[in-house]
Amino acid sequence: MVKLFEKVSLRGLELKNRIVVSPMGMYSAENGCVTPFHLVHYGKFAMGGAGLVIVEQTSVSRHGRITNGDPGLWHDNQIDGMRQVVHVIKANGAAAGIQINHGGRKSGQQRVFRGNGPLTDRDIEMGEETWTPTGPSDVRFADGYSDPVPLSKDGLIGTRDAFVAAARRAVLAGFDLVELHMAHGYLLQSFLSPLANFRTDEYGGARENRMRFPLEVTRAVRAAIPAGMPLFVRISATTGSKAAGRSRTVSSSRASSRRSASISSIARPVGICASARPTLTSRAARATRFPSPIRSGVNRASPQEPSA
Ligand SMILES: Cc1cc2nc3c(=O)[nH]c(=O)nc-3n(C[C@H](O)[C@H](O)[C@H](O)COP(=O)(O)O)c2cc1C
Repeated sequence: MVKLFEKVSLRGLELKNRIVVSPMGMYSAENGCVTPFHLVHYGKFAMGGAGLVIVEQTSVSRHGRITNGDPGLWHDNQIDGMRQVVHVIKANGAAAGIQINHGGRKSGQQRVFRGNGPLTDRDIEMGEETWTPTGPSDVRFADGYSDPVPLSKDGLIGTRDAFVAAARRAVLAGFDLVELHMAHGYLLQSFLSPLANFRTDEYGGARENRMRFPLEVTRAVRAAIPAGMPLFVRISATTGSKAAGRSRTVSSSRASSRRSASISSIARPVGICASARPTLTSRAARATRFPSPIRSGVNRASPQEPSA
């Protein structure tokens, strides 16, 4: 039986126990840079004894931010702040991971503590920057949100390269592990979802096509980080859409894609990707968390590396 306080090895990284603090956005960065708040916030989790602390979703581009308060790694001047966060986590005995993300059609919304909806005139008066979001298609996330501009082929390459550059900066900052955010309706998941991806090129349509861009990003990031560094991917196990019912699109494909992209762990929070505001009751969370066909391995870091 696996014990919570036993060590676990993932590629070249050994965790002192299996307690992982999952990434949680704090919406408190300034112009994409972390602040002393983040040092205290992440340091306290490490002091609490977790084996791994994963820093909140961090944007790979300025206009990929979910909110104006998201930290980023799209510029070299963001590395130093992250290095301090890494230092405070490691100095207190935990390993340091970071989740990198592009918000896609959900980017540019209110900070959660200011409403968690589309930006209002009041938010803009308060200084929040606005931009036109991008996505797989021109279908907006929900009423009130802007219509996204579908990513062109060049846009896909640029976005893939932004993930790679952010991952490299994470390595320079000293992180032990990188996680790709492929959940909650952000850009990579919206490519996977038939509720958001209506492309007619090789990146849309059949499931294999919808998986193409997320897998391209995954392989490019895997190739850019050290061989001994684990790469995690976070997916949504279900769409969270009543209209679509439970979608196992991603989960049922996880084993083959995990092998083909050399991923160390797939974590599955409850899914939020539909064209509806995320409403997550505890009942819904219970109902969607462990559907039996995808029960194995939920939120579990797998010590065994898949064969290449
Ligand atoms: C304030 C807050 C911010 C969150 N931010 C993120 C995030 O940046 N990235 C992410 O993948 N999940 C995020 N989540 C989801 C959590 O990581 C986690 O999955 C969720 O709280 C449920 O916990 P569980 O997965 O252990 O069941 C956030 C949750 C909360 C409460």
